[in-house]
Amino acid sequence: MAPVSETSTESGATAVASLQTQLTDALGDAIAAAYPAQSGADPLIRPSDHADRQANAALALAKKVGASPREVATNVTERIAVGDVVGQVEISGPGFLNLTLTDAALWRQVEARRAGARLGVPPVAAGVRTVIDYSGPNIAKEMHVGHLRSSVIGDALARILTFLGSDVVRQNHLGDWGTQFGMLIQYIDEHPEKPWRHTEITATDADGENASTVSALDGLYKAARAVFDTDPEFADRARARVVALQAGDEATLATWRDIVKESQYAFDEVYARLGVQLTEADSAGESFYNDMLDGVAAELEEAGIAVVSDGALVVLSEEVTGPDDEPVALMVRKRDGGYGYDTTDLATIRYRIRGLGADRILYLVDSRQALHFRLVFEAARRAGWLDPERVQALHVPFGSVLGPDGKPFKTRSGGTVRLMNLLDDAVAAALTVVREGAEAKGTEVDDDALTLIAEQAGIGAVKYADLSGSRVKDYVFDVARMTAFNGNTGVYLQYAHTRMVSILRRAAERGLTVPEHVPAAVETPLEAAERGLILTLDAFADVLAEVAVDLEPHRLAGYLYELSRAFTDFYEACPVLASEGTVRDRRLAIVDLTRRTLATGLDLLGIAAPERM
Ligand code: ARG
Repeated sequence: MAPVSETSTESGATAVASLQTQLTDALGDAIAAAYPAQSGADPLIRPSDHADRQANAALALAKKVGASPREVATNVTERIAVGDVVGQVEISGPGFLNLTLTDAALWRQVEARRAGARLGVPPVAAGVRTVIDYSGPNIAKEMHVGHLRSSVIGDALARILTFLGSDVVRQNHLGDWGTQFGMLIQYIDEHPEKPWRHTEITATDADGENASTVSALDGLYKAARAVFDTDPEFADRARARVVALQAGDEATLATWRDIVKESQYAFDEVYARLGVQLTEADSAGESFYNDMLDGVAAELEEAGIAVVSDGALVVLSEEVTGPDDEPVALMVRKRDGGYGYDTTDLATIRYRIRGLGADRILYLVDSRQALHFRLVFEAARRAGWLDPERVQALHVPFGSVLGPDGKPFKTRSGGTVRLMNLLDDAVAAALTVVREGAEAKGTEVDDDALTLIAEQAGIGAVKYADLSGSRVKDYVFDVARMTAFNGNTGVYLQYAHTRMVSILRRAAERGLTVPEHVPAAVETPLEAAERGLILTLDAFADVLAEVAVDLEPHRLAGYLYELSRAFTDFYEACPVLASEGTVRDRRLAIVDLTRRTLATGLDLLGIAAPERM
């Protein structure tokens, strides 16, 4: 059996089996040889304080085979093929197997992962078309922190799944349709003097912050609402506008298109600043499904899945009941004949399966919409659109962003916090931190460079704070903590990257290059810090594969933090430039691979990897 199983992929890249997999296979073989009836048992390879890894299976197997754990450990150990991957086995405690890998096996991984741009990561999601619904802001409204989370987490998943070979289709489900636009359009029409296009805006909002086209539109909507409530004649004109909009009146549609275009302009500014890879081509808002709604309602009604109740057409859940023990309803058509959010999502899921050919559909929407998606998926199954054997539809929920007071984030006046202002705050905090860092080191950094670094650090800090916790947990937006150089922060990871770059830069200045191949050093054994770092490097692909399954980018974030710490240990214990010969070569190779792994990982999270800070 080849120790490193290599799979050629279309791009010519090489997939590398991790040491974890190799150990699991080797120990699995030994268990099968010792206890044929137990073949297939997980050897439970785990990190160890005493060796490179430990296998914990003997304790679990003991009961099943009716022997003591130590006896099982001895029997299994005798059957482990020592030499190629496993260098040494020691039984410790009640029956743990402490496993030391050979230097050759460790080094083989470094060389194999260094060899291609994919760092030996196999395309485990190849052949899977994944539709990712994320961001989904509402037209004529500011994006809020919930949209920030959806955008940041959704984008990270889109990047990771693309890297793993999936054919990813991004879908921005903009809230761009509804009766509220009739009133807004009427008001805009009657007040041509009030500015809202991005070329006209200079005003500031209630909190004294610079306004955007969407906050201006939001202000106009609120003004329209106030007039609507007090002026019956305006209310009539506004109602007529709703009818005109729905009937496709050209002038009304033209203003609506303008509002959508201007709002998209404001969203694009946020995406560009965040490095979120959504473009207008990915926008398929609620209005996109308009023409499909009649058909969806008819299909559900004919199939007997939607029924008339109180004049409305509804799908009654067979799985969920409300507090009154009555089945919860999904609204297909309101009593007045109108369609809403529910109907649109029914049309959307049908389109994504039939039109886009999705194998997997991910909805990055906050946890408060869990019931909505549960009902939509249930209806889609009953309608025969969603066959769970073939298509996986998943609500990928996330928790709220809280203000410093631990309550949902709001401005002083209780309004929505503008995302751009939050980002400005984070960048300002990062600027202070980066400037102080530069001053402490006595390095001269010009203002332009400092501004760019602060932007990368500030945005990276916000994104990392969002990505580094488990998705469903709420978190507090605290710019000081986010931008700290120490601790589990984006800035810490970016700084680690700059140290790697700096070692390689100094090496290059001395005429040293990273050799393409470095032979495994037999005369100088790998040191503990080298082993630790190599083992961590080797886990990259396994971590990404886990993210593809449980859709938790915090696994990648946590991994990169661990990698940066393992690098710090290595950096302190193992001189690179001050060493010589093959030891220096292999350390340069390790630094190079670590830098590339960290940069790739940060890119998959959508975070910049600066060259200096
Ligand atoms: N516009 C919605 C909101 O702001 C999010 C849309 C989520 N996607 C969906 N298919 N419903 O809450």
